[in-house]
Amino acid sequence: MKKILKIVLLALSSFCVVSSFAGSSGVADMHVAKKMECKACHKSEDMKAITQDGCVECHGNQKEMLAKTGDKFGPVNPHFNHQPKPAACIQCHRGHKAARLTCSKCHDFEIQKK
Ligand code: HEC
Ligand code: HEC
Ligand code: HEC
Ligand code: HEC
Repeated sequence: MKKILKIVLLALSSFCVVSSFAGSSGVADMHVAKKMECKACHKSEDMKAITQDGCVECHGNQKEMLAKTGDKFGPVNPHFNHQPKPAACIQCHRGHKAARLTCSKCHDFEIQKK
């Protein structure tokens, strides 16, 4: 596993993710287009008080996502998590802003879509 990982010391390093991830405007549009309501994700009236609960109800948690997607995204699955405080779904998959990969603070690996 270590061989395929390039741990980078500089936070400024570039990283490469599949274009749908890097280029997207956020996950909300696609869900709304599939007739899902705002409140599927926004469980409280306060839109800003959002949590990942909705995501997990429909998709499963981080471990379940890891099991479901396996090696679909290349050697490193973005749903693999070794940190004491794992990133929430919505830290990477943002609702209305381009997605980001929180791992790239420390790593530089490619995510592919098979
Ligand atoms: C009401 C159920 C529901 C909720 C809530 C929900 N999703 Fe989804 N999501 C879906 C469905 C259904 C699809 C489409 C699956 C397909 O087409 O195979 C999908 C697709 C996706 C995709 C793939 C998008 C793509 O372009 O391929 C991502 C990523 C995703 N959801 C992340 C999230 C995240 C993050 C949240 C929480 C902010 C969330 N979802 C909340 C049901 C839900
Ligand atoms: C560290 C960043 C990160 C976190 C945290 C994260 N994801 Fe992802 N997820 C990705 C990347 C990168 C992809 C692959 C690109 C894409 O499909 O958007 C992906 C893909 C997906 C897909 C599409 C799966 C497919 O088969 O194409 C779904 C659904 C999804 N994530 C749901 C979730 C849910 C639910 C959570 C929280 C339990 C979560 N993700 C947490 C980065 C993350
Ligand atoms: C797939 C899940 C999802 C759906 C569906 C969704 N949102 Fe969001 N929304 C989020 C997330 C996650 C955030 C947190 C900020 C971010 O990531 O963009 C958010 C934040 C917001 C905010 C606060 C913006 C800010 O800058 O603080 C508003 C307002 C909002 N959403 C409105 C809506 C409306 C209106 C709809 C229905 C048309 C909707 N959202 C559908 C996931 C979703
Ligand atoms: C705060 C910095 C940091 C962040 C953020 C981070 N990692 Fe790591 N990661 C490390 C360090 C340090 C190691 C250990 C490197 C070694 O042992 O050579 C490591 C090791 C790994 C390994 C190899 C583990 C093994 O068992 O061989 C994988 C895979 C990995 N990280 C994936 C991820 C993914 C996916 C994310 C994002 C969800 C992430 N990391 C976020 C610092 C980080």
